[in-house]
Amino acid sequence: MQKLLVTGGAGFIGSNFVHYVMAHTDSFVTVLDKITYAGNVESIKHLPASRFRFVKGDIADAALVDQLVAEHDVVVHYAAESHNDNSLHDPRPFLDTNIIGTYTLIEAARKHDKRFHHISTDEVYGDLELDDPERFNEDTPYNPSSPYSSTKAGSDLLVRAWVRSFGLRATISNCSNNYGPYQHVEKFIPRQITNVIDGIRPKLYGKGENVRDWIHADDHSSAVLAIIDKGVIGDTYLIGADGEKNNLEVVALILQHMGQAPDAYDHVVDRAGHDLRYAIDSSKLRRELGWSPQFSDFESGLEDTIRWYRDNETWWRPQKAATEAKYRQQGQ
Ligand code: NAD
Ligand code: DAU
Repeated sequence: MQKLLVTGGAGFIGSNFVHYVMAHTDSFVTVLDKITYAGNVESIKHLPASRFRFVKGDIADAALVDQLVAEHDVVVHYAAESHNDNSLHDPRPFLDTNIIGTYTLIEAARKHDKRFHHISTDEVYGDLELDDPERFNEDTPYNPSSPYSSTKAGSDLLVRAWVRSFGLRATISNCSNNYGPYQHVEKFIPRQITNVIDGIRPKLYGKGENVRDWIHADDHSSAVLAIIDKGVIGDTYLIGADGEKNNLEVVALILQHMGQAPDAYDHVVDRAGHDLRYAIDSSKLRRELGWSPQFSDFESGLEDTIRWYRDNETWWRPQKAATEAKYRQQGQ
């Protein structure tokens, strides 16, 4: 039985990964999570004690990290400050967790010679023009725009340096925008679904023409497992499911599936430095590791997600009012 240490496993993608590992492998999972405003222990409750343990703690706590890393076979590193808007208003926690936290983990993984997988984002590559025929691939130069994406880029470079300089047995994946259950209501899709539930009109930044390349969280999880299993040490893999849509299209689908008029949304103040378009070429992952996404139909995945938020109001309700109050202050 493989023992996985999953950092940030009480967050959106980390908790989906934990559920995926429980359902598809016999691995033992320890989640290390600080439970910031974005973490929620409710997302990982009712898991079997024979295969699951939760440790509340900070990835920048070197003593705790050293002890936990020593006890496991693989570290899967999801923990991060993850929201671009927050990084524009208070960048410091992004440096503490994304840079110092990652440094603390790779030092422990190096010391104990453990396999390390670093979860990163397509945002490290900056953005593309709407009509650019190229998509991001593993050779695209780094060009991050926001405090968030620059700290993720920095953490990727630390991992690469630890591979080259110290022989760290690490891989990196850079994934596009995820959707699915357990995503915080600050993020685009859950914010608009829960707004409609609350009788508030969806809020589109700027013109709504920005494009994101959507992938279901379960497809991200299956790709990460494939990389841990078969990935080449030192390599980077881009994860994406050919899901490009602009924000206006996504809001229109949410409104349609929630029985609202197609124009029942508002335009609000744009995000500073707002990346225009992300698009992933995941052919290396598909060709070399035989991975393919299972959720090829964004619209039906979105319908499932809408149903999940309707059915799990007790999960998101405690965060909703404060999240909207913060956005109102920002004119968003
Ligand atoms: P999230 O904000 O939902 O969850 C982050 C989790 O990390 C939370 O549970 C939080 O409590 C925990 N955490 C934060 N700081 C910590 C610390 N110092 N010590 C321990 N735990 C801490 O984020 P997410 O959207 O699930 O993203 C997870 C990872 O995936 C991040 O590394 C992010 O960069 C990456 N990623 C996200 C997306 C996306 O679409 N959301 C896409 C590609 C990559
Ligand atoms: O590309 C991967 C990245 O995707 C991850 O690295 C980040 O952790 C994750 O948060 C996500 O970043 P984005 O900034 O793309 O996601 P967000 O949900 O904040 O916004 C998606 C798009 O929707 C973006 O163009 C901004 C826009 N938006 C967002 C909100 C919250 C709106 O138009 N209205 C909104 O209310």
